Amino acid sequence: MNADAMNAIDAIQPPRPIAAPRPAAQATAFPGLGELIRLTEEALGQRDCTAIVATLRARLPALIARHRGALGGEFLRADPQRRRRVELHHCPVLGYQILAMIWGPGQGTPIHDHHELWGVESTWHGELLVADFQPTTVAGELVRLEPRDAVCMRTGEALGLTPEQGLHLCRNPSQREVAVTVHIYARALDRFNLYVDAGDGWYRRREYCPETEY
Ligand SMILES: [Fe+2]
Repeated sequence: MNADAMNAIDAIQPPRPIAAPRPAAQATAFPGLGELIRLTEEALGQRDCTAIVATLRARLPALIARHRGALGGEFLRADPQRRRRVELHHCPVLGYQILAMIWGPGQGTPIHDHHELWGVESTWHGELLVADFQPTTVAGELVRLEPRDAVCMRTGEALGLTPEQGLHLCRNPSQREVAVTVHIYARALDRFNLYVDAGDGWYRRREYCPETEY
């Protein structure tokens, strides 16, 4: 566990009170979105989630290099209160979802899972720290977690998340720069578990709904 990861963990705040429901903003002007959709649907032809994730992870860096220079406007504008979550595409037939996340300096997530969905995260601007955690003991809603690996995704890099990989947090490690990431999920990540620090290495699991909470 490196210093960035420890700082990220220390900086995680308890989740905000539940706000009024607000749908993820829709957007169509994200650079390279058509190519991203075609790549995702080609990868989905493999059916096996490990192969899908490997294909997307391998091919995203070249796609990002081709298009990230055109990133601008609303996609580089951070909200000082919370990370922004913009749905770029949600396929009604195949079910997959593509999201952009815009992270202000230091903004991050609590520890969370993905309800056993596969996913691929990629960095289009700035950097994103991803720190993994391993459950070691479960007692009802309380789970004891130990930190595992932490990686810092630099601009142009992609990271795969398979259902077996479990729990993690994400954070923009920069104190000055905005980070922009694109997340592809097997289906809409509209409900999952987050883990709230209960002290002494224990965390309380609770269901989280991003449509109403961020
Ligand atoms: Fe995540």
